[in-house]
Amino acid sequence: ASLPDWRDKRVLVTAGPTREPLDPVRFFTNRSSGKMGYAIAEAASRTGAEVVLISGPTSLAPPPGVRRISVVRAEEMLKAVLEELPRADIIIKAAAVADYRPVTVSDRKMKKRDETIEIRMERTPDIALEVGKRKGNRFLVGFAAETDHVEENAREKLRRKGMDLIVANDVTAEGAGFEVDTNIAAVYDQKGLVARWPRMSKERMAERLIALIGERLNDR
Ligand code: C5P
Repeated sequence: ASLPDWRDKRVLVTAGPTREPLDPVRFFTNRSSGKMGYAIAEAASRTGAEVVLISGPTSLAPPPGVRRISVVRAEEMLKAVLEELPRADIIIKAAAVADYRPVTVSDRKMKKRDETIEIRMERTPDIALEVGKRKGNRFLVGFAAETDHVEENAREKLRRKGMDLIVANDVTAEGAGFEVDTNIAAVYDQKGLVARWPRMSKERMAERLIALIGERLNDR
């Protein structure tokens, strides 16, 4: 897959997990390492595009030439994305945004006392959905990490969130999904299946995704 020339383009990538605090020492998060999103930012940068990477907490270094904005909570990621959105031509949402957060965040460490406790959780904002509403002519790509009914769920998300492409992966498959260096995916657009990508490095998959978006933009 050859990379497009995007010297006139601005790309916004989200990556990593978000962290939703419970108190000053505890939080809820997920297994996202940020590898897929960082690989995408790196490949996008090699096209000559101006790349901004909005990242949750990860141990990864930002790729050379990429401007990174570090965030922690879903709410902060939404704010950063909406701020950068007007300047972006292509948005790739590879972040594993937490779906729920504790309703109340204690400013003191919660003491160990009761045998069982209950923590009330509420929905976080759906960033991709908010972007979808404001996307205009921008090209929007999402990810779907699923364990069941991968195709059905991915296509429903694509429709609901107004995405142009969605990259679906079965996170239960070996060599795909969280914490590993490889991925296996199927890509869908509004009409259906676009590509099936067998197990390959996240770097290579990132290149194929950028090449595919390049082709789609040319066909417009
Ligand atoms: O619904 P689900 O979280 O599985 O959708 C996945 C896609 O939506 C990903 O592209 C992810 O980055 C994005 N998303 C988001 N904000 C959320 C949840 C998911 O932008 N709160």
